[in-house]
Amino acid sequence: MINYLPPELTYSVSHAFINAGIVRVPGVKLEFPVELGKLRIKNPIGLGAGIDKDGLLVGSIANSGVGFVTIGSVTLRPRLGNPKPRIVKYPHLKAMVNAMGLPSRGFMDFMSRINNIIKVIGKFNVSLVVSLAGFSIEEFLIMLNRLRNFGIHAVEINISSPTYHGSWISDPKYLSELLNALEDFDTLFFIKMPLGVGLDFYKWIAHEAEKHGYGLTIANTLPVSEPRISVGYGGLSGYPIYPLVKALIRRVRAWGFRGPVIGLGGVFHGWQVIELLRSGANLVAVVTAFAYEGPFVFNRLLREFVSLSVRF
Ligand SMILES: Cc1cc2nc3c(=O)[nH]c(=O)nc-3n(C[C@H](O)[C@H](O)[C@H](O)COP(=O)(O)O)c2cc1C
Repeated sequence: MINYLPPELTYSVSHAFINAGIVRVPGVKLEFPVELGKLRIKNPIGLGAGIDKDGLLVGSIANSGVGFVTIGSVTLRPRLGNPKPRIVKYPHLKAMVNAMGLPSRGFMDFMSRINNIIKVIGKFNVSLVVSLAGFSIEEFLIMLNRLRNFGIHAVEINISSPTYHGSWISDPKYLSELLNALEDFDTLFFIKMPLGVGLDFYKWIAHEAEKHGYGLTIANTLPVSEPRISVGYGGLSGYPIYPLVKALIRRVRAWGFRGPVIGLGGVFHGWQVIELLRSGANLVAVVTAFAYEGPFVFNRLLREFVSLSVRF
């Protein structure tokens, strides 16, 4: 029912409920650890970027069975994002289109809470990924320098938001300068792939990530036009993009990419978690399923995943 209310209203009300502790998920004891190099993640199911943009919810969802949480995308300076309406839901398709426009309280605001965030995720043994969005290489570097030594488990580099209007993707020279610059940090990086671009780009970025030892997050939303959104376009997420994501993970593995992969896009069921892992993902995240179901989704996915894994 809640999913038929105005989407931004649902978004703000559910954030307020989760934050206030009104929505409480019973603690989950199931563990299904995944090893990524030195990192041990208690289970492969996590929250993707876009729900907890400023790290305000993580404390309330850390005990929901989630294996890892992605905070962000955080931008260096505070941003309001696009004018509303900026989300349109398609509940019958388990999908939505959004053009949030990378709203963020800004990096300094996030950093003011980082010690508490690290404490709470440590308490529940949840791994932390921070997604950074930047409009220049310098912006990324300023944030990465400040994040050094905080023990963040991984950083996701968002180069694929529809808000960039393709800038990072259409300028591989500048993008490769950014990828080179990341070499200076002793961090597990995931480069977030776009949907809807040509095979040449995918091949190139998979090759670059392999060369530098970075992981890939596959994938961001699919850019589409949507006249009901203030800016007339947005990114499609949810069930309809699932086949594209699965195919892209398979392709990247077939090209020989050996680094870690976070698969996300349209996952609503435990069988999809298994399918993405079998396609070559190491971890699986959800965003739209969380938007529809709230933090209960992790408990359900984990139970479905574990019971199916035992049967196969
Ligand atoms: C409301 C909303 C906001 C999002 N914000 C971000 C973001 O800030 N950074 C980012 O990298 N991806 C963002 N995404 C994309 C998701 O992380 C994910 O890649 C995409 O939605 C596909 O997964 P899903 O089908 O499970 O939603 C957002 C998605 C939605 C629906």
